[in-house]
Parts: sequence; structure tokens; C-alpha cells
Amino acid sequence: MATAVTAAVSLPSSKSSSFTSFSSKTSIISPERINLVRGPLYYRNVSSGGKLVSIRAQVTTEAPAKVEKISKKQDEGVVVNKYKPKDPYIGRCLLNTKITGDDAPGETWHMVFSTEGELPYREGQSIGVIADGVDKNGKPHKLRLYSIASSALGDFGDSKTVSLCVKRLVYTNEKGELVKGVCSNFLCDLKPGSEVKITGPVGKEMLMPKDPNATVIMLATGTGIAPFRGFLWKMFFEKHEDYKFNGLAWLFLGVPTSSSLLYKEEFEKMKENHPENFRLDFAVSREQTNEKGEKMYIQTRMAQYAEELWELLKKDNTFVYMCGLKGMEKGIDDIMVTLAAQDGIDWLEYKRQLKKAEQWNVEVY
Ligand SMILES: Cc1cc2nc3c(=O)[nH]c(=O)nc-3n(C[C@H](O)[C@H](O)[C@H](O)COP(=O)(O)OP(=O)(O)OC[C@H]3O[C@@H](n4cnc5c(N)ncnc54)[C@H](O)[C@@H]3O)c2cc1C
Ligand SMILES: NC(=O)c1ccc[n+]([C@@H]2O[C@H](COP(=O)([O-])OP(=O)(O)OC[C@H]3O[C@@H](n4cnc5c(N)ncnc54)[C@H](OP(=O)(O)O)[C@@H]3O)[C@@H](O)[C@H]2O)c1
Repeated sequence: MATAVTAAVSLPSSKSSSFTSFSSKTSIISPERINLVRGPLYYRNVSSGGKLVSIRAQVTTEAPAKVEKISKKQDEGVVVNKYKPKDPYIGRCLLNTKITGDDAPGETWHMVFSTEGELPYREGQSIGVIADGVDKNGKPHKLRLYSIASSALGDFGDSKTVSLCVKRLVYTNEKGELVKGVCSNFLCDLKPGSEVKITGPVGKEMLMPKDPNATVIMLATGTGIAPFRGFLWKMFFEKHEDYKFNGLAWLFLGVPTSSSLLYKEEFEKMKENHPENFRLDFAVSREQTNEKGEKMYIQTRMAQYAEELWELLKKDNTFVYMCGLKGMEKGIDDIMVTLAAQDGIDWLEYKRQLKKAEQWNVEVY
């Protein structure tokens, strides 16, 4: 299954580090026509060979659509827990660069580690990192999980690296002392050439849908963008013999300031090259407001496309992914409750069905 990276773009320039620029060469994929069919929905479970999951089907005046989906979670090729904390993989930092502006509230870094192909992972999985040193009890630090920010091919296209997008945690405690998060500071301070203890990979919730014609709605706050960078590289920057994305990818990214917009140049390049297949919306909370003057959170931006999003959610091959701050989940549920109610649908019940069909995928923290 030979795959090749046909294009990549540089990461946003940063004063903290340098990153090699690659030239961009992608072809525009012919647009999928999205048919929106109105009508009540019903649910059914379909099984065949133990591999199928609960599906939704749409009742229209024509014959109901019956779509069978193979569960992404039963894919035999997905590796989990190859490396455990007692015997972690020792990678090496190849690159570490700050990707937020100097005036951003907080720092986020993009880093690439060598894996020599020994840590096979899929887009949407996470890895564990064990920071060097010991905790206050003299014991080795516990691992922290990080969403993988690269596609399975990795940033260099050779399946020999894994990338992360890490926010440096710094806060003031109740005594007024400045506290630095153990692992995020270890990672953000890593110098190229340093070793890093890695466990995993883990997680199946955020695996991509297999259907190359799917509508994939990605909802990210801050570093929650990580898994979606992996998705989008696979969709738009790479060439695969067994996968050619021809659906609709729609990314909503919420950040505090425009200087904290992560991977903006990459996403804009994708949009420029694939305008029919990629939609991109930012919510910059401390700089933008809606028409009522409310703070522009990701759910505030989504509300501007409420009807359209709701119609997409009625399709059997629409998959929603949410990643980032825990608080975003409630905000998004609140809009959905109102939209669903207009069609006489109970959102929480509907969401349960979507989850069962792997169409509503959440990893928030
Ligand atoms: C599945 C998953 C994926 C993740 N992916 C990413 C990712 O891609 N990128 C990323 O940056 N992070 C990610 N995280 C979060 C990451 O695992 C760590 O939790 C984060 O980096 C902080 O770890 P730390 O060791 O730096 O902080 P720690 O030393 O563990 O300190 C964190 C603790 O500090 C305290 N604390 C934090 N903020 C405050 C505050 N404002 N006031 C008072 N106390 C506070 C809390 O008790 C918190 O538990 C992910 C988490 C999960 C579960
Ligand atoms: N797989 C995972 O579980 C996973 C992966 C990656 C990251 N994470 C977690 O995701 C979080 C991302 O934080 P970050 O520091 O990178 O982000 P950040 O840069 O601070 O950006 C977060 C954005 O979300 C906004 N926001 C705050 N409360 C919100 C709410 N209730 N609803 C919607 N938006 C809200 C913030 O606005 P204001 O600041 O202006 O209020 C800001 O614009 C971290 O907690 C990280 O650990 C989890």
C-alpha cells in the first residue's frame, strides 16, 4: 500500500525556531454534490459478520436510504498500547517550534519526534509522554496523553515520525505562586536531539470515517486542533492508493486571539487548493463578537450556520468530531437542542443514536 506525500506547507513562522518549507503541489478534487433531504428519521441496527454498527436511515417520500457502515473501531490494522509505561518507546525530538505569536495568551508548540516506524498509529489516536525527572514523592512522573497532530505518514511523509501540538500550562495557584505543568513544560522546552519516552498509541474514538465521500465536521478549541490536522493532511496533502477524499471537510476552530490561530497557513492552503471540499471557519473569542455583541466561541460561529449544519447532521454519512476544552460540549449541545426541537426531535436521544453509529465523536478534556 504505497503512499506518497504530494504536498505540504510550512508551519507558521516563529521567532522561536525554524522549520523547513516544502513546496505545495496538490490537485483540486472534483466537488461532491451534497444532497440534503428533509424528512423524519428512524433508527435501526444492522449487523453482518459482527462488523456493522447501528445506523440511521432517512425516511423520505422515496425509498428509505439504507446505509451500512463498518465500525472504525473494529479495524484490524489499528494498533493500541504497543508501548507501555514500564517499557516506553524512546523517540528523539527532531523539531520543536512555537506556533503562537509572541502576544498570544499562552504558548503552543508543534513538535516532531522520530519513531523509526516502530510506533504505527492512525490519524486521531493519542500517545502518552513520560516527562523526565521524578514527582514530589521521588517516583517517575505519570504519563500524560497528547493527541497526535500528524497524519499516519507523519510530517515528513515517511511514516517514521509523530507530531504533537502542546500548550504550555502555566497558572497561578491560590497562594499566588506560579505553577508550571510538568509534562507540557517538559515538552515545550525539548530541544532537537533530546530523547522522549512515549507510550501507546491509544484511542479509537477519534479515528477517521472510512468513507472518502463523507461529510466530516471538525470542532476544535485550541490544541484540540491536533487530531484534525492529521485528518486534513491525509485528505488534502497526501496521495493514497486506497483513499481519495472527495467529500466535504468542514473545520471550526476556536482560539482566543488571531495570534493563537494554529496551523492557519496550512488550512488556508488546503482551502485554496480544494475550495469545493473544504470549509474553514474560525472563532476568535477575544477579538470577534456576533451581531448581538456576544463573545465569538466556536458554538457562536456554528450558530451562524445552524440550519445548514442541522441538515448535514441528518445525512447518514455525516460525521462530527469534537476535541478540546470540556466546556465546548455543552455550548454545542445547547444549539443542537434548539435546532432539533424545530423538527420535533429530542437532541439528547438523537445524539445517542449518532454516537452509536460513530457519527458523533467527542474527546474533550
Ligand atoms: C486524550 C487527551 C488528549 C490530550 N491532548 C492534548 C494535546 O494535544 N495538547 C495539549 O496541550 N494537551 C493535551 N491534553 C492534556 C494533557 O494530557 C495534559 O493534561 C496537559 O498538558 C497538562 O499536563 P502537565 O503535566 O503540563 O500539567 P500537570 O503538572 O499535570 O498539572 C495539571 C494540573 O494542574 C492543575 N491546574 C491546571 N490549570 C490550573 C489552573 N488554572 N488553576 C489551578 N490549577 C490548575 C490541575 O490540577 C491539573 O490537573 C490531552 C489530554 C487528554 C486526556
Ligand atoms: N483529545 C483531547 O481530549 C484533547 C486534545 C487536545 C487538547 N485538549 C485539551 O483542550 C484544551 C485546549 O486548550 P488550549 O489552552 O489549547 O485552548 P486555548 O488556546 O485557550 O483556546 C480555547 C478557546 O476556547 C474558548 N473557550 C473557553 N471556554 C469555552 C466554552 N465553554 N465553549 C467554547 N469555547 C470556549 C476560549 O475562549 P476564552 O479563553 O476567550 O474564554 C478560547 O478561545 C486543553 O484543556 C487541552 O488539555 C484535549
